[in-house]
Amino acid sequence: MTLLLWLSSDWSSIAVLGVFLTVFTLVFDFMKRRKKWSRYPPGPMSLPFVGTMPYIDFNNPHLSFNKFHKKFGNIFSLQNCWTNVVVLNGYKTVKEALVHKADDFADRPYFPTYEHVGYGDKSEGIVVARYGHVWKEIRKFTLSTLRDFGMGKKSLEEQVTEEAGFLCSAIKAEEGRPFDLRFLVNNAVCNMICSIIYGGRFDYGDEVFRKMVALFENSLSEEAGFLTQFLNVMPILLRIPGLPQKVFRGQKAYMDFIDVLIQKHMETWNPEHTRDFTDAFLKEMSKGKEAEENGFNYNNLRLVTADLFAAGSDTTSATLRWAFLYMLLHPGTQSKIHKEIDMVIGRERSPTMMDQVNMPYTNAVIHEAQRCGDIAPVGLPHMAYRDTELQGYFIPKGTTVITNLSSVLKDESVWKKPNEFYPEHFLDVNGQFVKPEAFMPFSAGRRVCLGAQLARMELFIFFTTLLQQFTFMLPEDQPRPWTDGYFALIKCPHPFKLRAIPR
Ligand code: HEM
Repeated sequence: MTLLLWLSSDWSSIAVLGVFLTVFTLVFDFMKRRKKWSRYPPGPMSLPFVGTMPYIDFNNPHLSFNKFHKKFGNIFSLQNCWTNVVVLNGYKTVKEALVHKADDFADRPYFPTYEHVGYGDKSEGIVVARYGHVWKEIRKFTLSTLRDFGMGKKSLEEQVTEEAGFLCSAIKAEEGRPFDLRFLVNNAVCNMICSIIYGGRFDYGDEVFRKMVALFENSLSEEAGFLTQFLNVMPILLRIPGLPQKVFRGQKAYMDFIDVLIQKHMETWNPEHTRDFTDAFLKEMSKGKEAEENGFNYNNLRLVTADLFAAGSDTTSATLRWAFLYMLLHPGTQSKIHKEIDMVIGRERSPTMMDQVNMPYTNAVIHEAQRCGDIAPVGLPHMAYRDTELQGYFIPKGTTVITNLSSVLKDESVWKKPNEFYPEHFLDVNGQFVKPEAFMPFSAGRRVCLGAQLARMELFIFFTTLLQQFTFMLPEDQPRPWTDGYFALIKCPHPFKLRAIPR
């Protein structure tokens, strides 16, 4: 009897404690999700603990955003568990934030998962670095070093032209058989960034290169996946023993690979002779304590070079693949480019950047491929650097801000046929090239793409050289490629095969 009484009193205490804990947790969650500000942007109803995460398709965030854009207008709010997120849509809104209020939106959110690839004090890389003096120093150094190595100059253009030649030979070797252009284009584009950063290129099909790309792709898909997003909003889970090692296996392997490349540089480094970006960074590091404080330390070297490689390879390669996919689907457009190339360049000499001004149609097609391909549909996340206002809404400091670049590149108030491939978007009535201001694939403002100049050069030289040499056709036995693409940090075309017939 005593035992029964004890048990029942114990159960009731457990029940009371259970009710108390549940109420406490719900109130705590409610307080964390509560918006204390009037004029905060509207958004879908936030659910306990998960916020609005269940409403977002993390494999196609831009499509989810477009639905909310229609419902709530140009500025709406979301909530990733307890993290406040504001999404900006349409040309006017994104420009106002990034250009007119550049400082207010220049910060990047901190994600706890970064620490597992070495992100730390004075070593935040460049792409996800917080807005502050270390980022400024590193960005200034990176831009000037890329220029020293020829970005925007003839010397780099010559390298791109040489690489385009290698690419043409590799394509010729396919002898008109159906093949997937992806690996070769990827190799060519990676070679450009590799030679700038690490001072060397890889032969097509090289084993080390294949390994590097595989490691890089694993690390990208790890980063884009739902689990990583979830761990970022529930970082406490990162304390589960063994979990980070398991979840970030790919990113760790990729960083280990970069360590080997840098190690090789350090062994052969000669401060008198700067071979590449890594050497220039090592030289900066050797300047001592102040340089270290400004971000020039070993850990940051590996993060900055990894960032440049990540930001500069798949982006350009995916854009080129979109451009060739549109050529398969629009043979009439391809013939017009062939005509323009024959008229302006001919078949003998290689295209140069000087030709661009005389080739409005080709230029328009490349821009339209960038607009329609829309490879960075949601850009990179920004963060409000201080309390700010936008179109009458209040956005508090620390809010994650997503710039829906897709909604700019497909803004119905700017583009005549936003969802179609229509090169005339970039041509005036006289057939001359024009660039509407809403063409923002590289974003805008303080964090605007740092490699835009290199990317534009690569896009023009690679695309024009390949079209000078080949006619691209859809193989008879292949299905018509899809134009929707798939998203893993950037939006790539689904794999497709083509035939390249020498002209
Ligand atoms: C077609 C090719 C490319 C596209 C569409 C593209 C697009 C972008 C976009 C949308 C951003 C985010 C800007 C923002 O946060 O608002 C970005 C950032 C960046 N891009 Fe690119 N990019 C391309 C090629 C390159 C290349 C070739 C490089 C390398 C040299 C590069 C280096 C970077 C870096 C370092 C950042 C981060 C800048 C910062 O946070 O300060 N990108 N890019």
